[in-house]
Amino acid sequence: MSSKSALSVVALLVVAVLLVAAPMVRERYPRAWWYAVSFPILWVRIRFTWRQLAWECDLAVTRKRAHAMIGGILVKGKELDPVVPRLHVGWPRPFSVTMRARMLPGQTPDEFVDAAEAMSHAWRVHSVRVSSPARGEVEFTISARDPLANITAPGALARRKHHGRPWFGVSVSAELEETPGAADAAKLLRVFVGLLEDGSPWVLDLRLLPHWLITGATQSGKSTLMNAAVVELAPRPVALVGIDLKGGMELGNYTARLSALATDRPAAVRLLGHLVDVVLERTVQCRVAQVRSIWDLPEQIRPVPIVVLVDELAELYLATDPKGKADALACSTNLVRLAQLGATLGVHLLVAGQRVGSDLGPGVTMLRAQLGGRICHRVTDPETVKMTLGDKFPDAVIAAQSIGPLERGVAITTTNEGGWMRARSANIGAEQAQRITTDYAHQRVWLPGLSDFDRPGGKTS
Ligand SMILES: Nc1ncnc2c1ncn2[C@@H]1O[C@H](COP(=O)(O)OP(=O)(O)OP(=O)(O)O)[C@@H](O)[C@H]1O
Ligand SMILES: [Mg+2]
Repeated sequence: MSSKSALSVVALLVVAVLLVAAPMVRERYPRAWWYAVSFPILWVRIRFTWRQLAWECDLAVTRKRAHAMIGGILVKGKELDPVVPRLHVGWPRPFSVTMRARMLPGQTPDEFVDAAEAMSHAWRVHSVRVSSPARGEVEFTISARDPLANITAPGALARRKHHGRPWFGVSVSAELEETPGAADAAKLLRVFVGLLEDGSPWVLDLRLLPHWLITGATQSGKSTLMNAAVVELAPRPVALVGIDLKGGMELGNYTARLSALATDRPAAVRLLGHLVDVVLERTVQCRVAQVRSIWDLPEQIRPVPIVVLVDELAELYLATDPKGKADALACSTNLVRLAQLGATLGVHLLVAGQRVGSDLGPGVTMLRAQLGGRICHRVTDPETVKMTLGDKFPDAVIAAQSIGPLERGVAITTTNEGGWMRARSANIGAEQAQRITTDYAHQRVWLPGLSDFDRPGGKTS
């Protein structure tokens, strides 16, 4: 055999081995595969299709007119010499890459948002999200695969015991590693609840966004998200208060760690009324100290932050008898007052509901206006999606409506930067939440004035 044909045989063998081994390598080393193979292919695909795609999606403009007069006849046609926005493809990150384009005169980000679906098909990627971080610029975040699919999250506390080992491939920062104490004012209310679509930790920062509205159809993941938040907060010097008008079925799991739990409407009225009094006392305390927020008070006299958990908002509002209606109105008024006053006074609301609509009464719309943080899981009625996201992020409504029934725990959330993103909560089940909150029963905060009513296991009248 000549040396030339021997070389061809070897080359053929190498190609055959590579073809056979490729699926295995891809499976075992997905990240390396992405950097070495998938990203370069995607890069080439984007480069070669961008001009055609931009033209097809009406993202091209022409500096020449699309019509002309020829011998007194108006001739219309396709634009000649179309100009497309120039793309700058960034460095790849794990399974995603960001591109930027400078918009041409007359273009708006909405035109690029409309084209995102076509781009994800043309480039054969999981999704293309478009945002406009700076005037005149659009940013495309391309996810090669759904980073939120098939994740089985250990409990947040279990993660801590992993001694900094990455979780879902996220290198959890030192900040999230340790349980913050009262002295770590900035970290105390940063609650790590899951993973964002860009692969970073999903953190509800209650100092930044003091109150949150969490919606979703039944079995969409609201309680699981609450569980994740509660197991993070349980070890910290934070009071947890529950209002669960499903008879305590959901929040009753945290009984050992709750400072108070209301399981019917009259108890909720008393509890919310008491919390309003607490907030008013704190305003006096701040006024005397001449500060605008409890966080400006010295640590020794700073009152403990209170996180109020409400499960099934509609139950608070839906009443038929006159007494029930009066109670519902009182709850609604007090929730709005708490939301209005509580932000700087260390009282925070996490309000969950399957359905949030104007039919629950005008109080709901007023409350919603105060709940700056929004989380929308899969929902079945369009009004709830619009109530949750429509006023702040109209472009997120479609993204929320496309969450499938199998994507439990997936939600659209407000990000700490003020935008929105897809996210998935850590899958913390009811038993795990119960076990962890019981482990931290000694951290239960005894709030003054709550000693004789609504304390779980205590007197309830
Ligand atoms: N992040 C997640 N990852 C995986 N599975 C999840 C996640 N969140 C929820 N699930 C699954 O979905 C189921 C229902 O979740 P959950 O009880 O939180 O729904 P819900 O919205 O509170 O429902 P309901 O309105 O009926 O109380 C859970 O038992 C769990 O199996
Ligand atoms: Mg629930």
